[in-house]
Amino acid sequence: MAVITNIEDLRVLAEKRVPRMFYDYADSGSWTEGTYRANEQDFQKIKLRQRVAVNMENRSTATTMAGTKVKMPVAIAPVGLTGMQCADGEIKAAKAAEKFGIPFILSTMSICSIEDVAAHTTAPFWFQLYMMRDRQAMVDMIERVRKAGCSALVLTLDLQVIGQRHKDLKNGLTAPPSPTIANIINLMTKPRWCLGMAGTRRHTFGNLVGHVKGVSNMRSLASWTNEQFDPRLSWADVAWVKQQWGGKLILKGIQDVEDAKLAAQSGADAIVVSNHGGRQLDGAQSSIEALPAIVNAVGSQMEVWMDGGIRSGQDVLKAWALGARGTLIGRAMVYGLGAMGEAGVTKALEIIHKELDITMAFCGRTDIQTVDKSILLPGTFPV
Ligand code: GLV
Repeated sequence: MAVITNIEDLRVLAEKRVPRMFYDYADSGSWTEGTYRANEQDFQKIKLRQRVAVNMENRSTATTMAGTKVKMPVAIAPVGLTGMQCADGEIKAAKAAEKFGIPFILSTMSICSIEDVAAHTTAPFWFQLYMMRDRQAMVDMIERVRKAGCSALVLTLDLQVIGQRHKDLKNGLTAPPSPTIANIINLMTKPRWCLGMAGTRRHTFGNLVGHVKGVSNMRSLASWTNEQFDPRLSWADVAWVKQQWGGKLILKGIQDVEDAKLAAQSGADAIVVSNHGGRQLDGAQSSIEALPAIVNAVGSQMEVWMDGGIRSGQDVLKAWALGARGTLIGRAMVYGLGAMGEAGVTKALEIIHKELDITMAFCGRTDIQTVDKSILLPGTFPV
């Protein structure tokens, strides 16, 4: 096998190994995918300042995210259908995160259930929640999260309605895939994936099936969303979730300064500046572009994190320099998982950490806590 040296290598391998519909599900944005592309491209525009003749020994990228110690300011983002990228995907990614020393966030739309992930890990993971119409189902889910020992709840605010991703419609995305001729032909070219799936019983939405009532098509993410997610979500509901949960609360999907201020008033512990990986409002600005104004407005009141477009440790460092006290990686994890299972996620984390550490050194810093905007070339970054 070719030597894997960067996240793009993992992406290429994942594209070969993962059935088309699941690879496409992760690797797409909504409508024109303009925001999806901008998330990555805008990182490239930011230039770093090299410094020399500075002692670069004994470096540290360690910090905390919402009170949790992390080896680097990165957590694994909640990604729906992760267990379709590779058999038992969420368990594998959670194990890799635990061994590496960063948090894993389990998606509501995961294949492995909350209980499954808890049974296979020892470090507390975090759970991502969507606001559902059925409040009793929410209460029950929050209780399951508490029982599983999760140490933070991540409430997603930007998916009351779902953005259209053309490929999912064209591919007829379901979990598991329907036995159509096109799917069977595609699956025949993915023996490694099929073998993995033959060895697990985890084939559909593990958190929901058997727990949430009244959904006609239990295999389709789009149907779940349309039938279950609450389009009326308001700040009063956020307060309700906070009260039900009572623990660390992170609000994900903030793009606008006004919403960031409302989030700060809500008493959240952190917010994630995010456009859902370019999968929701196409035409919105990139996350890294949105970040600085939000940090200016609310960064002194709570931790501001970001996600979207991070494909390297350099991107993590740039986000940190612009005030993000944490980042989430979704696709970089998914590519690793699809390429090589747990070892691939570990590889992705190692790649990102090494890039972060070496770049920090080139910029003349040995401790991430001392990194700020001054490592960036003025005029090349958003303010
Ligand atoms: C769900 O969160 C999705 O982006 O598909």
